[in-house]
Amino acid sequence: MAETPKSATTSAKKRKLNAPAMAMRKRVNGDDALVMVTAYDAPGARVASEAGADLILVGDSLAMVVLGYDDTLQVTVDDMAHHTAAVARAKPNCLIVGDLPWMSYHVSVEETIRNAATLIRAGAEVVKLEGGRKRLAMIEALIDAEIPVMGHIGLTPQSVHAMGGFKVQGKRAEAALELVEDAKALAHAGCCAIVLEGIPVKVAKMITDAVDVPTIGIGAGPDCDGQVLVYHDVLGIEDRFVPKFVRRYADLKSASVDAVAQYADDVRSGAFPNDAESYHMADDEADALGLYGS
Ligand code: KIV
Repeated sequence: MAETPKSATTSAKKRKLNAPAMAMRKRVNGDDALVMVTAYDAPGARVASEAGADLILVGDSLAMVVLGYDDTLQVTVDDMAHHTAAVARAKPNCLIVGDLPWMSYHVSVEETIRNAATLIRAGAEVVKLEGGRKRLAMIEALIDAEIPVMGHIGLTPQSVHAMGGFKVQGKRAEAALELVEDAKALAHAGCCAIVLEGIPVKVAKMITDAVDVPTIGIGAGPDCDGQVLVYHDVLGIEDRFVPKFVRRYADLKSASVDAVAQYADDVRSGAFPNDAESYHMADDEADALGLYGS
Protein backbone atom coordinates (compact mmCIF):
# COMPACT_ATOMS: atom_id res chain seq x y z
CA MET A 1 0.00 0.00 0.00
CA ALA A 2 1.26 3.48 -0.88
CA GLU A 3 2.59 5.38 2.10
CA THR A 4 0.60 8.49 3.06
CA PRO A 5 2.85 11.46 2.23
CA LYS A 6 4.08 13.04 5.45
CA SER A 7 2.86 16.44 4.27
CA ALA A 8 -0.72 15.12 4.00
CA THR A 9 -1.18 15.56 7.72
CA THR A 10 0.19 19.08 7.76
CA SER A 11 -0.45 20.76 4.43
CA ALA A 12 -4.27 20.73 4.40
CA LYS A 13 -5.23 24.35 5.09
CA LYS A 14 -6.71 24.43 8.56
CA ARG A 15 -8.71 27.25 10.10
CA LYS A 16 -6.43 29.74 11.88
CA LEU A 17 -6.79 29.48 15.63
CA ASN A 18 -7.99 32.43 17.71
CA ALA A 19 -7.78 33.02 21.46
CA PRO A 20 -11.36 32.03 22.41
CA ALA A 21 -11.19 28.88 20.27
CA MET A 22 -7.86 27.96 21.86
CA ALA A 23 -9.26 28.49 25.36
CA MET A 24 -11.74 25.67 24.75
CA ARG A 25 -9.21 23.11 23.50
CA LYS A 26 -8.91 20.29 26.07
CA ARG A 27 -7.72 16.81 25.17
CA VAL A 28 -10.11 15.38 27.75
CA ASN A 29 -12.92 16.54 25.45
CA GLY A 30 -11.40 14.70 22.51
CA ASP A 31 -9.65 17.78 21.05
CA ASP A 32 -6.30 17.46 19.26
CA ALA A 33 -3.20 18.48 21.18
CA LEU A 34 -2.15 22.09 20.55
CA VAL A 35 1.15 22.50 18.72
CA MET A 36 3.16 25.61 19.56
CA VAL A 37 6.67 26.40 18.36
CA THR A 38 8.70 29.54 18.78
CA ALA A 39 9.71 31.74 15.84
CA TYR A 40 11.48 35.07 15.78
CA ASP A 41 11.45 36.13 12.13
CA ALA A 42 9.52 35.81 8.88
CA PRO A 43 11.28 32.68 7.54
CA GLY A 44 10.73 30.89 10.87
CA ALA A 45 7.07 31.93 10.85
CA ARG A 46 6.64 30.53 7.32
CA VAL A 47 8.20 27.23 8.38
CA ALA A 48 5.92 26.97 11.43
CA SER A 49 2.88 27.86 9.36
CA GLU A 50 3.61 25.51 6.47
CA ALA A 51 4.32 22.72 8.98
CA GLY A 52 0.83 23.18 10.43
CA ALA A 53 1.67 24.54 13.89
CA ASP A 54 -1.37 25.96 15.70
CA LEU A 55 0.52 28.68 17.53
CA ILE A 56 3.74 30.64 17.13
CA LEU A 57 5.31 31.94 20.29
CA VAL A 58 7.63 34.89 19.77
CA GLY A 59 9.36 33.91 22.98
CA ASP A 60 11.82 35.87 25.04
CA SER A 61 14.07 32.85 24.40
CA LEU A 62 14.94 35.22 21.54
CA ALA A 63 17.55 36.54 23.98
CA MET A 64 19.36 33.22 24.22
CA VAL A 65 18.87 31.49 20.87
CA VAL A 66 19.08 34.50 18.55
CA LEU A 67 20.68 37.44 20.34
CA GLY A 68 23.43 35.51 22.15
CA TYR A 69 22.63 36.40 25.77
CA ASP A 70 23.03 33.89 28.61
CA ASP A 71 19.53 34.38 29.98
CA THR A 72 16.22 35.92 28.95
CA LEU A 73 16.50 38.97 31.19
CA GLN A 74 18.24 41.11 28.58
CA VAL A 75 15.51 41.53 25.97
CA THR A 76 13.34 44.64 25.92
CA VAL A 77 9.82 45.38 24.75
CA ASP A 78 11.34 47.00 21.65
CA ASP A 79 13.32 43.81 20.88
CA MET A 80 10.18 41.71 21.28
CA ALA A 81 8.09 44.07 19.16
CA HIS A 82 10.74 44.10 16.40
CA HIS A 83 10.69 40.29 16.16
CA THR A 84 6.93 39.98 16.63
CA ALA A 85 6.43 42.32 13.68
CA ALA A 86 8.80 40.22 11.54
CA VAL A 87 6.79 37.09 12.37
CA ALA A 88 3.48 38.84 11.71
CA ARG A 89 4.63 40.14 8.30
CA ALA A 90 4.82 36.51 7.14
CA LYS A 91 1.05 36.25 7.82
CA PRO A 92 1.35 32.73 9.25
CA ASN A 93 -1.74 30.57 9.56
CA CYS A 94 -1.01 30.36 13.29
CA LEU A 95 -2.10 32.29 16.37
CA ILE A 96 0.77 34.64 17.28
CA VAL A 97 1.68 34.85 20.97
CA GLY A 98 4.06 37.64 22.02
CA ASP A 99 6.12 37.17 25.17
CA LEU A 100 6.19 40.08 27.59
CA PRO A 101 9.83 40.41 28.67
CA TRP A 102 11.12 40.72 32.20
CA MET A 103 10.23 44.04 33.91
CA SER A 104 7.62 44.92 31.30
CA TYR A 105 4.72 43.81 33.52
CA HIS A 106 6.13 44.17 37.03
CA VAL A 107 6.12 47.90 37.73
CA SER A 108 2.56 49.14 37.24
CA VAL A 109 -0.72 48.29 35.57
CA GLU A 110 -0.30 51.28 33.22
CA GLU A 111 3.14 50.16 32.04
CA THR A 112 1.93 46.59 31.67
CA ILE A 113 -0.96 47.58 29.43
CA ARG A 114 1.18 49.96 27.38
CA ASN A 115 3.85 47.29 26.85
CA ALA A 116 1.32 44.62 25.95
CA ALA A 117 -0.31 47.05 23.50
CA THR A 118 3.08 47.54 21.84
CA LEU A 119 3.28 43.79 21.19
CA ILE A 120 -0.33 43.64 19.98
CA ARG A 121 0.29 46.56 17.59
CA ALA A 122 3.37 44.71 16.33
CA GLY A 123 1.18 41.73 15.43
CA ALA A 124 0.74 39.57 18.53
CA GLU A 125 -2.80 38.30 19.13
CA VAL A 126 -2.15 37.04 22.67
CA VAL A 127 0.52 38.07 25.19
CA LYS A 128 2.25 35.64 27.53
CA LEU A 129 3.65 36.46 30.92
CA GLU A 130 5.36 34.44 33.63
CA GLY A 131 4.19 33.88 37.18
CA GLY A 132 1.24 32.72 39.22
CA ARG A 133 -1.02 34.45 41.72
CA LYS A 134 1.33 37.38 42.24
CA ARG A 135 0.70 38.48 38.64
CA LEU A 136 -3.10 38.42 38.94
CA ALA A 137 -3.60 42.19 39.09
CA MET A 138 -1.69 42.66 35.83
CA ILE A 139 -3.44 39.74 34.14
CA GLU A 140 -6.87 41.05 35.11
CA ALA A 141 -6.01 44.53 33.85
CA LEU A 142 -4.81 43.16 30.51
CA ILE A 143 -7.92 41.06 30.05
CA ASP A 144 -10.00 44.09 31.01
CA ALA A 145 -8.22 45.96 28.20
CA GLU A 146 -9.34 43.20 25.77
CA ILE A 147 -5.85 41.68 25.51
CA PRO A 148 -5.88 37.86 25.68
CA VAL A 149 -3.29 36.49 28.11
CA MET A 150 -1.44 33.18 28.22
CA GLY A 151 -0.01 32.29 31.64
CA HIS A 152 3.32 30.53 32.27
CA ILE A 153 4.17 28.76 35.53
CA GLY A 154 6.73 26.26 36.84
CA LEU A 155 10.29 26.85 35.69
CA THR A 156 9.88 30.47 34.69
CA PRO A 157 13.20 31.55 33.13
CA GLN A 158 12.71 35.23 34.02
CA SER A 159 13.00 34.12 37.69
CA VAL A 160 16.38 32.46 37.10
CA HIS A 161 18.08 34.34 39.95
CA ALA A 162 15.16 33.93 42.37
CA MET A 163 15.05 30.18 41.62
CA GLY A 164 18.84 29.83 41.95
CA GLY A 165 19.19 28.58 38.36
CA PHE A 166 17.08 26.90 35.71
CA LYS A 167 15.62 24.28 38.06
CA VAL A 168 12.65 21.93 37.76
CA GLN A 169 9.84 23.26 39.99
CA GLY A 170 7.07 21.57 42.00
CA LYS A 171 9.02 18.46 42.93
CA ARG A 172 7.82 18.54 46.53
CA ALA A 173 4.15 18.00 47.40
CA GLU A 174 3.71 21.44 48.94
CA ALA A 175 5.28 23.22 45.96
CA ALA A 176 3.18 21.11 43.58
CA LEU A 177 -0.02 22.20 45.35
CA GLU A 178 1.09 25.83 45.09
CA LEU A 179 1.42 25.38 41.33
CA VAL A 180 -2.07 23.86 41.13
CA GLU A 181 -3.45 26.88 43.03
CA ASP A 182 -1.54 29.25 40.72
CA ALA A 183 -2.96 27.55 37.65
CA LYS A 184 -6.52 27.66 39.01
CA ALA A 185 -6.15 31.37 39.78
CA LEU A 186 -4.81 32.12 36.27
CA ALA A 187 -7.64 30.18 34.65
CA HIS A 188 -10.19 31.88 36.88
CA ALA A 189 -8.77 35.29 35.96
CA GLY A 190 -9.39 34.49 32.30
CA CYS A 191 -6.06 33.30 30.87
CA CYS A 192 -6.75 31.54 27.57
CA ALA A 193 -4.02 28.91 28.13
CA ILE A 194 -1.21 28.19 30.57
CA VAL A 195 2.34 27.13 29.72
CA LEU A 196 3.70 24.58 32.18
CA GLU A 197 7.49 24.53 32.07
CA GLY A 198 9.92 22.21 33.86
CA ILE A 199 7.60 20.39 36.25
CA PRO A 200 7.10 16.67 37.02
CA VAL A 201 4.68 14.71 34.82
CA LYS A 202 2.29 14.00 37.69
CA VAL A 203 2.07 17.66 38.68
CA ALA A 204 1.41 18.69 35.07
CA LYS A 205 -1.41 16.16 34.93
CA MET A 206 -2.90 17.43 38.22
CA ILE A 207 -2.87 20.97 36.85
CA THR A 208 -4.26 19.93 33.46
CA ASP A 209 -7.11 18.10 35.18
CA ALA A 210 -7.76 21.04 37.52
CA VAL A 211 -8.24 23.79 34.93
CA ASP A 212 -10.70 24.15 32.06
CA VAL A 213 -8.28 26.03 29.80
CA PRO A 214 -5.52 24.21 27.90
CA THR A 215 -2.11 23.60 29.39
CA ILE A 216 0.84 23.71 27.00
CA GLY A 217 3.86 21.84 28.29
CA ILE A 218 7.60 22.17 27.85
CA GLY A 219 9.47 19.70 30.01
CA ALA A 220 6.12 18.86 31.64
CA GLY A 221 5.42 15.42 30.18
CA PRO A 222 2.78 14.00 27.85
CA ASP A 223 -0.46 14.80 29.70
CA CYS A 224 -0.70 18.50 28.85
CA ASP A 225 -3.22 19.76 26.29
CA GLY A 226 -0.42 20.85 23.99
CA GLN A 227 3.34 21.10 23.69
CA VAL A 228 5.78 23.88 22.89
CA LEU A 229 9.42 23.70 21.87
CA VAL A 230 11.98 26.28 20.84
CA TYR A 231 12.49 26.39 17.04
CA HIS A 232 16.28 26.21 17.30
CA ASP A 233 16.01 23.10 19.49
CA VAL A 234 13.55 21.30 17.19
CA LEU A 235 15.78 21.94 14.19
CA GLY A 236 19.11 21.34 15.92
CA ILE A 237 20.31 24.86 15.16
CA GLU A 238 21.21 25.33 18.84
CA ASP A 239 23.66 22.59 19.81
CA ARG A 240 25.53 24.05 22.77
CA PHE A 241 23.09 22.81 25.40
CA VAL A 242 20.27 20.36 24.82
CA PRO A 243 17.86 20.07 27.77
CA LYS A 244 16.47 16.60 28.59
CA PHE A 245 12.98 17.53 27.37
CA VAL A 246 14.09 18.53 23.87
CA ARG A 247 13.58 16.20 20.94
CA ARG A 248 15.55 17.19 17.87
CA TYR A 249 13.94 16.57 14.51
CA ALA A 250 16.86 17.78 12.36
CA ASP A 251 20.52 18.67 12.66
CA LEU A 252 20.57 21.98 10.83
CA LYS A 253 23.64 23.29 12.66
CA SER A 254 25.84 20.56 11.14
CA ALA A 255 24.10 20.82 7.79
CA SER A 256 24.65 24.59 7.82
CA VAL A 257 28.32 24.37 8.80
CA ASP A 258 28.89 21.77 6.05
CA ALA A 259 27.13 23.94 3.46
CA VAL A 260 29.04 27.12 4.34
CA ALA A 261 32.34 25.18 4.45
CA GLN A 262 31.59 23.83 0.96
CA TYR A 263 30.86 27.38 -0.26
CA ALA A 264 34.16 28.57 1.26
CA ASP A 265 36.05 25.74 -0.51
CA ASP A 266 34.38 26.60 -3.83
CA VAL A 267 35.24 30.31 -3.51
CA ARG A 268 38.86 29.52 -2.64
CA SER A 269 39.24 26.97 -5.45
CA GLY A 270 37.55 29.22 -8.03
CA ALA A 271 34.68 26.73 -8.52
CA PHE A 272 32.16 29.39 -7.50
CA PRO A 273 30.69 31.21 -9.32
CA ASN A 274 30.53 29.27 -12.58
CA ASP A 275 29.42 30.53 -15.97
CA ALA A 276 25.72 29.79 -15.41
CA GLU A 277 25.85 31.73 -12.15
CA SER A 278 27.29 34.84 -13.90
CA TYR A 279 25.75 37.65 -15.98
CA HIS A 280 26.88 38.23 -19.57
CA MET A 281 26.75 41.08 -22.07
CA ALA A 282 25.99 40.84 -25.77
CA ASP A 283 29.07 40.15 -27.96
CA ASP A 284 28.68 43.43 -29.92
CA GLU A 285 28.63 45.41 -26.67
CA ALA A 286 31.70 43.53 -25.49
CA ASP A 287 33.38 44.20 -28.83
CA ALA A 288 32.68 47.93 -28.39
CA LEU A 289 34.65 47.76 -25.17
CA GLY A 290 37.40 45.78 -26.81
CA LEU A 291 36.49 42.73 -24.74
CA TYR A 292 36.26 39.59 -26.76
CA GLY A 293 34.35 36.51 -25.60
CA SER A 294 32.94 38.21 -22.49
O1 KIV B 1 10.50 32.16 25.50
C1 KIV B 1 10.16 31.01 25.27
O2 KIV B 1 10.59 30.38 24.29
C2 KIV B 1 9.21 30.38 26.18
C3 KIV B 1 8.92 28.92 25.98
C4 KIV B 1 10.07 28.13 26.43
C5 KIV B 1 7.66 28.52 26.64
O3 KIV B 1 8.70 31.01 27.05
